[in-house]
Amino acid sequence: MRHLVVLVLLCLPICLAYPLAGAVKKDSNMDLVQQYLEKYYNLANGMKQLVRRKDSITVGKKIKEMQKFLGLEVTGNLDSNTLEVIRKPRCGVPDVGHFATFPGLPKWRKTHLTYRIVNYTLDLSRDAVDAAIEKALKVWEEVTPLTFSRIYEGEADIMISFAVREHGDFAPFDGPGATVAHAYAPGPGIYGDVHFDDDEQWTEDTSGTNLFLSAAHELGHSLGLFHSDNPEALMYPVYNPRTDLARFRLSQDDVNGIQSLYGPPPASPDEPMVPTKFIPPAPQMPSLCDPALSFDAVSTLRGEILFFKDSYFWRKTPWNHKPEFHLISTFWPALPSELDAACESYSKDMVFIFKGSKFWATRGNEIQAGYPRGIHTLGFPPTVRKIDAALSDKEKKKTYFFAEDKYWRYDENRQSMEKGFPRLIADDFPGVGPKVDAALQAFGFFYFFSGSSQFQFDPNAKKVTHILRSNNWLKC
Ligand SMILES: *[C@@H]1O[C@H](CO)[C@@H](O)[C@H](O)[C@H]1NC(C)=O
Ligand SMILES: [Zn+2]
Ligand SMILES: [Zn+2]
Repeated sequence: MRHLVVLVLLCLPICLAYPLAGAVKKDSNMDLVQQYLEKYYNLANGMKQLVRRKDSITVGKKIKEMQKFLGLEVTGNLDSNTLEVIRKPRCGVPDVGHFATFPGLPKWRKTHLTYRIVNYTLDLSRDAVDAAIEKALKVWEEVTPLTFSRIYEGEADIMISFAVREHGDFAPFDGPGATVAHAYAPGPGIYGDVHFDDDEQWTEDTSGTNLFLSAAHELGHSLGLFHSDNPEALMYPVYNPRTDLARFRLSQDDVNGIQSLYGPPPASPDEPMVPTKFIPPAPQMPSLCDPALSFDAVSTLRGEILFFKDSYFWRKTPWNHKPEFHLISTFWPALPSELDAACESYSKDMVFIFKGSKFWATRGNEIQAGYPRGIHTLGFPPTVRKIDAALSDKEKKKTYFFAEDKYWRYDENRQSMEKGFPRLIADDFPGVGPKVDAALQAFGFFYFFSGSSQFQFDPNAKKVTHILRSNNWLKC
């Protein structure tokens, strides 16, 4: 699920040198960071001067706190990823310790709530605004016993309005960008209310700031949810313009959060066996150190290694001890999740990604034109419905494709499948398998991933030299 999710800039080695040159630029970055820390991380005003000093321990700590919360690599430094996130539009509710907004753990003490749309933005038709709010309320209605009804005058539990700059609650909006909305936790008066910054360009799609997504997130606050540090969660604080609206779904983290306050929806008495409000559980975030961890696909990329699992991947760089963890959609919005295979084409500087009968060519975070293509264009017979793993042999310029108990070999120079294939995996890679989930070449070895195990295979000696846990690369 990729909702109000951080958009980590795809910064592959090619663009690691972030253009931060020049004192003026640096200074404006510092201002930006200072404002951000004050606003969302409770950096005391007295600390302001300190932000400008690189060696400030307090600021470093705050930056670390922020990086940890946003799921970034915790360096304490203003690296390019951190600056990128700071520049993204986000929700105006602070991430930590802002007890003026969220005293205690408030929740509504009734299950039927009223809402009122006090006024409108000129960016959208009234119908479009009404529809976005209704749809956003439904997101929460479906997973709780809560119901909502609209009123047109007087004080509703949830008052929804659009405003710019100072708008009477001591939390002025900031013009276009940055804060897009904020909301108050359950309670009387202003509590429960949702304010949208009308200096944003509100849209029905994701070309501007999507009203439905922002409303669903803010209503989560109106119902008592805090921010989540799970980047899949709707309650993650940073707005993700790349969300796939058609496939929007709450993450399990959001569902757990709201049900901890209100419980699940009541079972319908008419159809006790088939609850109409059944929502299939969203996949859980995979855990790096789970000894049972398996991978869908593994590939090298410009000296890094990418480990794909469900809708996520870990990115292991040679210069970082800890792998980075991202949503696939953050880097490649058009790619599906639960991939089958991936491999790097060194000569083309591309990574090929396989799922089902299709494959995609990516360079950096760009999907190449003309993709996806059918895997049969590579020379597989029609009986092959999907491939399980792919491995590029950099030196010999061959790519191996594994499907069930067989494998094929593709000649990168001649751009065609080699004759004499498929062959049985068991014949040429004794000790590997029977089925291969993912494969990788590194240090002159082939690594085959099968469930939670990994086989290090020496292609010259033609034997398995080590059996490791699949997550052995990822330094738990
Ligand atoms: C909408 O209502 C809010 C709250 O009453 C107010 O602050 C804001 O100025 C109003 N916006 C417009 C465009 O009238
Ligand atoms: Zn928020
Ligand atoms: Zn407000």
